[in-house]
Amino acid sequence: MKKIAIGCDHGGFELKEILRLRLQEMGREVEDFGCYTPDPVEYPQIAFRVAQEVAANPQTYEFGILCCGTGIGVSIAANKIHGIRAALCTDCFSARMAKEHNNANIVTFGGRTVGRELAWEMLNTFMKAEFQHGIHEPRVQALTEA
Ligand code: RB5
Repeated sequence: MKKIAIGCDHGGFELKEILRLRLQEMGREVEDFGCYTPDPVEYPQIAFRVAQEVAANPQTYEFGILCCGTGIGVSIAANKIHGIRAALCTDCFSARMAKEHNNANIVTFGGRTVGRELAWEMLNTFMKAEFQHGIHEPRVQALTEA
């Protein structure tokens, strides 16, 4: 089974730790790109690193998870990396659509905006969903080619 890449800044540290541990408890291999303490760090650097790894190694990573205070900063940063479709999720419907319609390869969450149980539910919803192909295929392809 492919690995999951994960990263955060200080605003998403606590949530990242919870999600990483729960994923590992369910048997998933998770590569943690930091940060590793709640001390302040620059979120663009960590988001770029996770996004570059996911974009460059699709055989290794199924997808990536990024957490910051709101999930916004890491999604903006990740989407600057070619081939990345990072989706900021705040509800389970969006988390499902992120896979079914957008084939997102990174999901982002806000450690200061969503509770841990909602984040876990969204993550599981995303992981269980499948890309629907069809009409969504050329749209996702257009994103990749832009
Ligand atoms: C850090 O204080 C905060 O700005 C960051 O975690 C994130 O919310 C940025 O989008």
